[in-house]
Amino acid sequence: MRILTLAALLLASAAPALAHADAQTAKVAPVLNTPEAKDVWTYARPAEARVTHVDLDLNIDFASKTISGVAVLDVAAAKGAKEIVLDTLDLTITEVSDEQRIKLPHTIGPKDPQLGSPLTIQLNGAKKVRIAYSASPGARALQWLTPAQTQSKTLPFLFSQGQAINNRSWIPTQDSPGIRQTWSATITVPDGFAPVMSGQMLDGATGKLVPHYRRQFRFRMDNPVPPYLIAIAVGDLKFKEVGPRTGVWAEAGMIDAAVSEFADVEKMIDAAQALYGPYRWGRYDMLVLPPSFPYGGMENPNLTFFTPTIITGDRSNTDVLAHELAHSWSGNLVTNATWSDGWLNEGFTTYFENRIMEALYGKERAAIYSDLDYAGMLRDVKDAGGDSAPSTRLHGEPGEGAGQLDYLKGSTFLRTIEVAVGRARFDAYLRGYFDRHAFQPQTSAGFLADIRKHLIKGDKALEAKLQLDRWVYQPGVPSNAVQVKSETLAKVDAQLAAFNAGGPAAAIDTAGWQTQQWQRLLGGLPRQQSAARLAELDAALKLTSSKNAYVQSAWFDLAIANRFEPVIPALEEYLTRVGRNLLVTPLYRGLKAQGEWGTPIAQRIFDKAKPGYHPVTVGAVTRILEAR
Ligand code: BES
Ligand code: ZN
Repeated sequence: MRILTLAALLLASAAPALAHADAQTAKVAPVLNTPEAKDVWTYARPAEARVTHVDLDLNIDFASKTISGVAVLDVAAAKGAKEIVLDTLDLTITEVSDEQRIKLPHTIGPKDPQLGSPLTIQLNGAKKVRIAYSASPGARALQWLTPAQTQSKTLPFLFSQGQAINNRSWIPTQDSPGIRQTWSATITVPDGFAPVMSGQMLDGATGKLVPHYRRQFRFRMDNPVPPYLIAIAVGDLKFKEVGPRTGVWAEAGMIDAAVSEFADVEKMIDAAQALYGPYRWGRYDMLVLPPSFPYGGMENPNLTFFTPTIITGDRSNTDVLAHELAHSWSGNLVTNATWSDGWLNEGFTTYFENRIMEALYGKERAAIYSDLDYAGMLRDVKDAGGDSAPSTRLHGEPGEGAGQLDYLKGSTFLRTIEVAVGRARFDAYLRGYFDRHAFQPQTSAGFLADIRKHLIKGDKALEAKLQLDRWVYQPGVPSNAVQVKSETLAKVDAQLAAFNAGGPAAAIDTAGWQTQQWQRLLGGLPRQQSAARLAELDAALKLTSSKNAYVQSAWFDLAIANRFEPVIPALEEYLTRVGRNLLVTPLYRGLKAQGEWGTPIAQRIFDKAKPGYHPVTVGAVTRILEAR
């Protein structure tokens, strides 16, 4: 006989079939308990006890580079469960108690460098646990910037990056994308600073003055979210409206450029909603960070975090905006249950991003991105070792995926389905998919079951045509992959062919080129070039002195592959200014690949640049330089 308590139902069931759903329990998102949904990157055992809400009361101290305070966690425990297990990384725990401040016994397990340490708390019947703690000044999620590393050069700056498993370094909770939690926070900062977070702001930009010349601000997130989406930034931030639902946070000197760069955001939200259903988060604000921000963008709810390297003045990188906005559906609404299925976040989002770009700017602009993505997919598969390399599977070991294949193979997969079934049918399916799984975790197996039930519906010919399992579970690129071709890039290819046949660099006509044409040209040049040819290219196209970070990165990559020394001073300046992973790690990898020539250069530049990098970038570059 099977007896399910309400708690067990909440914990284990994939269907949100809540027996007596009151306002509170309706907000509790299910945790999947199927084998493929087991997250090996968390110590949590959510089937026994899980966190449903996180309340933070934290003080930000720039002098000691510490965040400290109290986290109160709401716990839903299965019948008979005696303890709850949380994730922590380098946290100093000073007290663990229940709500009445009665101490609860707890242990901190051994530290794994990636996963951190489990914090196991005896519940003694408590429904809430209170943890007093402080984060380490070296917390992996956090970067503390000196005034010199900001634009205004006047105040220090702090920001967090949670994805994938960094937030356990400043929040003691169950840090798994499959365990959704609502949250609330009271943040105390020195007077003069404005903190922002990835939720609703309750006190506007001024907050409340409290003793010791400090200000307090409150935030809340009423939708259950995976905890990697809790984010904070504190600095000399100003706000400017873009539209009724949207605005930009940035340092004063950056704000007007950002508002102009992101001017189309309201139209993008309209387009996205027309495609895949309502935007369920209220506001969509955008935060522009200092250049050490390790990503192009990070889809923190209500407040996407952006690198300033996309603010180029010509709106040629608004694909990043479309991408992060698209995550409001794919990723934030329907979330990969584990990091083995990252393509459910990134592949869906890359496809959705492309559809937004098409809706706003037309088929050709979208085709440029799809064409580049297809080429990128083939390059990543090749670099990974070819069609049978295990790291080219969509569903794999967490962290194992090669290059950008979650994005590129994932989006090509969805495009292939779209073309096979027709756009109208696929769009209707996807819209239903987001509705059916809103605010829930998802796995590859869950997606395949859903598409079979709601789209394929037993059509054997269609099933055979799509090769779904091959796409998801096998390495390489399946034979039915749909390639989109761009006329704009075909023109670049023609110029490239002329140059490659020995033509002069001065004949390459780059008038009106946007980032993507440059990427095609620089990515399409044979990797072997003579110093004379490189000097000719640089003289004609002004590559070393380009103001576009993407152009510089692609150019430096080619120069490094040919040990072209004239770029080194500019490369050094670039690598000490920009910390965006996608732009800098290929350069360190390229230098390292050049052995006795490149390794000392990489090491020297890294020693100098390291204090300015976010811990995520420091970790990535360290791994590259330490690899044999
Ligand atoms: N969610 C990612 C950023 C991320 C990926 C953080 C992996 C941690 C681990 C974000 O949405 C993203 O994909 N950013 C891209 C830009 C995008 C347009 C391809 C980036 O950082 O370059
Ligand atoms: Zn993304």
